[in-house]
Amino acid sequence: MTTGHVFIATSLDGFIARPDGDIGWLHEIDAAGEDHGYDAMLESVDGLVMGRRTFDKVLSFEAWPYTKPVIVLSRTIDGGDVPAALRERVRLKQAEPQALMAELDRNGWRRVYVDGGQVIQSFLREGLIETMQIARIPRLIGQGVPLFGTLEEDVPLEHVETRSFPSGLVSSLYRVKIKPVQ
Ligand SMILES: NC(=O)c1ccc[n+]([C@@H]2O[C@H](COP(=O)([O-])OP(=O)(O)OC[C@H]3O[C@@H](n4cnc5c(N)ncnc54)[C@H](OP(=O)(O)O)[C@@H]3O)[C@@H](O)[C@H]2O)c1
Repeated sequence: MTTGHVFIATSLDGFIARPDGDIGWLHEIDAAGEDHGYDAMLESVDGLVMGRRTFDKVLSFEAWPYTKPVIVLSRTIDGGDVPAALRERVRLKQAEPQALMAELDRNGWRRVYVDGGQVIQSFLREGLIETMQIARIPRLIGQGVPLFGTLEEDVPLEHVETRSFPSGLVSSLYRVKIKPVQ
């Protein structure tokens, strides 16, 4: 079965963006020359699944940053809302996480980069995330878009490794423990 993988940066108080979606603070630490593993992560996946809000943010970047195919989950926009230059690379979908992963599995995708707070939470709730690499930025922002949310049951994690960098960024890799069959 296709596995989901998270690679994301948060404030120390657990937010991935300010309430208005601003992520400028992520880049205000001096992390020049540090390799946090982002390129290796992108290289390791067959493609990305992201929420529409994350897609909106990426569209505001100067250039489209991905070479791998991207699936955007939305119930409010459709393929016609994707800029023409991206239509070969971006697919809009309205699908539940399990059904989407089963479809990707049939299409030969082995590993998927899952991005966006709401989307990550929904994939976690369905047991579709295998690893999470979380980079904590040394800053408290007080309020914002949370990475994690409510759960019906605990999600036990295995800590694989933590690395710290001169910029103060601390990156931890967790493996989500497979639930024993009841
Ligand atoms: N710090 C970081 O590393 C990092 C990484 C990624 C994103 N971000 C930031 O996080 C913010 C976005 O995160 P977010 O939690 O607000 O939103 P998100 O997860 O990116 O997107 C949520 C949207 O995805 C759609 N969606 C989710 N599940 C769906 C499903 N099963 N089927 C169809 N559509 C589904 C809905 O879009 P519709 O409303 O269109 O139906 C929903 O409103 C942005 O500000 C972004 O810049 C930060």
